[in-house]
Formats: sequence, structure tokens, C-alpha cells
Amino acid sequence: MIEDKSSHAAAPQPKEGVGVITRRRFLSVVFAGATAVGLGAFAAPLARYAYPVLKGQVFARQQVATTAQVTADGFKFDYMDTPSMVIPTSDGGYAAFSLVCTHLGCIVKWEPKNKDFHCPCHAGKFDETGKNISGPPPKPLTKYNLTIQGTAIIVEGIAT
Ligand code: FES
Repeated sequence: MIEDKSSHAAAPQPKEGVGVITRRRFLSVVFAGATAVGLGAFAAPLARYAYPVLKGQVFARQQVATTAQVTADGFKFDYMDTPSMVIPTSDGGYAAFSLVCTHLGCIVKWEPKNKDFHCPCHAGKFDETGKNISGPPPKPLTKYNLTIQGTAIIVEGIAT
């Protein structure tokens, strides 16, 4: 009898069991991990878009800056975990806004030369009152209630 030693012989198959991982199991673990990471990457921006600052929640009263800190470039701060900014207004006062774009949640940038906010994602623009003035954003930026006490600029909740 002649023994077949050619390449047609079946390759040895891994045995299922403790300490042995099959190609199928390895790939399913890799795909499950990639799916979880992908969903997490989308979930956080979606939640921030849907609820930039939750209405109806108890708002913190927070000193966000002093008047000396607010230059024409504005002054960034976080309010209720939301990137925000206080800017000097044309009438000599101050206004504070969430920097979360009302289109798809990108972070807008204050343009002191033009006195408007510009969104880098789809070229949305908001004026110094937060009003959406061009591009796809469907509504104004979230504006905060702001009070000045001495030199302290204090934010507490959403302006209506
Ligand atoms: S996310 Fe700002 S314009 Fe689209």
C-alpha cells in the first residue's frame, strides 16, 4: 500500500477546548470588540447633540470668569460638562453660550473679527446673540442666564 504524502492531505484541525482559540472564535471576538468601540464613538456625540444641556435639570450656579478675563476672543469654560463661552457683546455687556452646534453637535468657534460663531463641520454660523444666521443649524445656540456680581460673571441655567 502506498501512503499519500502529497499536499492534498487534510491539514490538522485545531481541537476545541481549554486554551485553544479557533479562527472563527478569534474573528467573532475581534468583530464584537470593533462593533462595541464603534457604537461608543457614535453614542457620546449623539447624546450631546440630543441633550446639550438637559432642560428641566437642576442647574449649577457657577462663576465662570471675571470681567477681566473676557477679552474680544471670549473666555471658554465648561458648564454642566458642556463646552461653553462667555463673549463681550456690542452693547458693552456679556453673553454666554453652549458651544455645541445645534446641527449635529460639533463645537463652534467664536470669530471676534466678525462677531459670530462659526461651525467647522458644515459652515453653520450664529451671530453674537446666538441666533443661527446661515448654514444648516436649525435653531440658535443654547444661551445661559448670566449675572455680574462685582467682577464675577456667573452663569445659572438656560435663558428663555
Ligand atoms: S454640525 Fe455645525 S453646521 Fe453641522
